[in-house]
Amino acid sequence: MGNAQSELNPEYDVIVVGAGVAGLNLALHLPDCCRTLVVCKGGIKESDSYLAQGGICVLRDKSDFKSYYEDTMRAGHFENDSATVKCMIEHSRETIDELISLGVRFATENGALAYTREGAHSRPRIVFHEDCTGKEITSRLLKAVLRLPNVTVRPHTTMLDILCDREDTVCLGAVLRDNRTGNVFPVRAGNTVLATGGVGGLFRHSTNFRLLTGDGLAVALRHGVLIDHADYIQFHPTTLYTEGRGRRFLISESLRGEGAHLINAKGRRFVDELLPRDVVTQAIYREMEREGSNFVRIDLRPVGEETLIDHFPSIVSRCKKEGYDVLKEPAPVVPAQHYFMGGVRSDLYGRTTMPNLYAVGETCCNGVHGRNRLASNSLLESVIFAKRAAEDIVNGTPAAGIPDYRPERYENPVRLARSDQKNVLKEMKQHER
Ligand code: SIN
Repeated sequence: MGNAQSELNPEYDVIVVGAGVAGLNLALHLPDCCRTLVVCKGGIKESDSYLAQGGICVLRDKSDFKSYYEDTMRAGHFENDSATVKCMIEHSRETIDELISLGVRFATENGALAYTREGAHSRPRIVFHEDCTGKEITSRLLKAVLRLPNVTVRPHTTMLDILCDREDTVCLGAVLRDNRTGNVFPVRAGNTVLATGGVGGLFRHSTNFRLLTGDGLAVALRHGVLIDHADYIQFHPTTLYTEGRGRRFLISESLRGEGAHLINAKGRRFVDELLPRDVVTQAIYREMEREGSNFVRIDLRPVGEETLIDHFPSIVSRCKKEGYDVLKEPAPVVPAQHYFMGGVRSDLYGRTTMPNLYAVGETCCNGVHGRNRLASNSLLESVIFAKRAAEDIVNGTPAAGIPDYRPERYENPVRLARSDQKNVLKEMKQHER
């Protein structure tokens, strides 16, 4: 491990808050000379990127541009930022190639990439790894980042605030808490990146990790950094209905793309399953209300046993654990909070309205998703705009020097805890077993 330091440096060129695909890909694209600290609130695998099931979109070929663009815009109710959507689509193919070169394994058919489909896509254009594409991509990015000599990864570290000058005109770093010791310490940095994920932890029913509580959004609000569309919350139509509390398990939309039916208590279909997510969610709520029930059902049998077993092993096995043999019977599903389209306003380079503060991934609102995200655009946009933010950090003009942080607010001594890079590796191995 090149970066197994015994102490954290008091100053970094870049602090990245969040270790999902956006945070990791940003760190990966910083040059060796850029001393970088990546922190995350929970364990290294507690990011929603890990949970993404369906896949990641890609432009099939030039002739697909118009329809991919229109699908994204239509799903987003045409509130999307057109330039951002075009930028994402234009960079999609090279992004998939780059992921493959990092070792990401996507399903293939006759030696070429296989494509699946989800709601509101006019054709199959989603590449996937079984039903755990997010885990495949994130774990490869993490492995690559952990090899970098200039990057220190530190889990179980919460960002409590950002450091700014007295007038909140420039970001100077972050105030962090070691969740294991309770130590709070400011860390100064040339650039700070908010990649803290979404807001699902604030909802009773969500597919998100409970610890994702909009931390990036909160610090932005506190310091007058522009936020957009805080009310643009996406509810995924199909999560497995269970009585218990806690995170809801996703029943991937790609199952509906492969032919699964949504049915009511009488076994009748009541909606076109491939309409945009928000439309299907509303139809399900209406049907639940009409029937006076807590869920509707999804019948996976039309997908076919072979595809279910090969493409969706984790979903089949999880449903079985909950008592539903989806090869033989429907399973109960209910909508749940899934994604946040609003966030910290950012541009095509992840820049926020505060100099030296970037926002990427679900934390930011760069306008790519409009009012309702098209399925499987999230991993793609996170990876693309994080890379662009890294490039901007390198090529942009850094603030001159690093002025003092606010001593009256942060009086704790700069007592930095030991880097637990070794624990990160241990944790990864445990999960891989
Ligand atoms: C899913 O697999 O249904 C989720 C994919 C996404 O949120 O884009």
